[in-house]
Amino acid sequence: MSVSVDPDWWKTLFDEVYLITDARTVCNDEMTRREIDVFCNLIPMKVNDRILDLCGGHGRHTLELCHRGFLNCTVFDHSHALLKIGADNAEKKEYAIEFIQGDARKIKLDDDTYDHVMILGNSLGYIPDDKSDLLILKESRRVMKSKGWLLLDVTDGKTVRRQFIPNAWHEINEDVVVCRQRELNENFLCAREMVLSKQNGVVRDKAYCIRLYEPEHLSELLTDAGFIDIQFYSNNQSFANNHGPDRKEDLGCMNHRLIVSARKP
Ligand SMILES: C[S@@+](CC[C@H](N)C(=O)[O-])C[C@H]1O[C@@H](n2cnc3c(N)ncnc32)[C@H](O)[C@@H]1O
Repeated sequence: MSVSVDPDWWKTLFDEVYLITDARTVCNDEMTRREIDVFCNLIPMKVNDRILDLCGGHGRHTLELCHRGFLNCTVFDHSHALLKIGADNAEKKEYAIEFIQGDARKIKLDDDTYDHVMILGNSLGYIPDDKSDLLILKESRRVMKSKGWLLLDVTDGKTVRRQFIPNAWHEINEDVVVCRQRELNENFLCAREMVLSKQNGVVRDKAYCIRLYEPEHLSELLTDAGFIDIQFYSNNQSFANNHGPDRKEDLGCMNHRLIVSARKP
């Protein structure tokens, strides 16, 4: 059976239910801390730098940066629901984080503003046309200061293809199960995700499609967007430690990631 996907799926999937279905990664504070440890070693982030967490969701990376003393962070995302959750958490912790709603293809922020732009947690490749990711990268470059750093963390397309698992399921708690039926096509990983409650039946039945990037393609895209000094890192060693997620666990797009740094000239 072929998975049929609404091209605007990304406008409605990221809400409170997503924080439940993807809790093993995006609500895993230890994993976020480890990611920030790695990212801070890759680019020279200083506590007074202006940082844009683009497609930042509920701001887990920014909250961790603020916990480490960072003072000038902005989270930009399309999802009102995730931004509200992030803003509530920031308020509780008394972190002065700016949360902005919008489409990353047209960021309503000034040119030459940020020292660093981060696009983390596999947030690129959601819009099926060929131009959108380039637009997002060009917008990232525009709002960055000259010599600023971009940090990208996307799923590693080559490894996803090699280790493709068509069906996966996991229990969230005693009541809720998440089932994923996946398909690969030339450039995309598509999945139907069903969230089932033993008590209440179907909670969600939605499909999504994510473009699979490999270093060569991503490098071309970053060059077209005007970035230089493009460097690739694999997370396979750097994220793995004794506290890490069980490597046998199927975390979908979050198992194998390609981390990239680049600079604005
Ligand atoms: C998988 S979540 C990751 C969120 C966050 N970076 C993290 O690691 O927790 C992807 C996020 O990208 C956002 N997103 C995707 N495309 C977007 C776009 N064109 N404009 C703004 N936000 C977008 C979604 O709303 C969602 O919150």
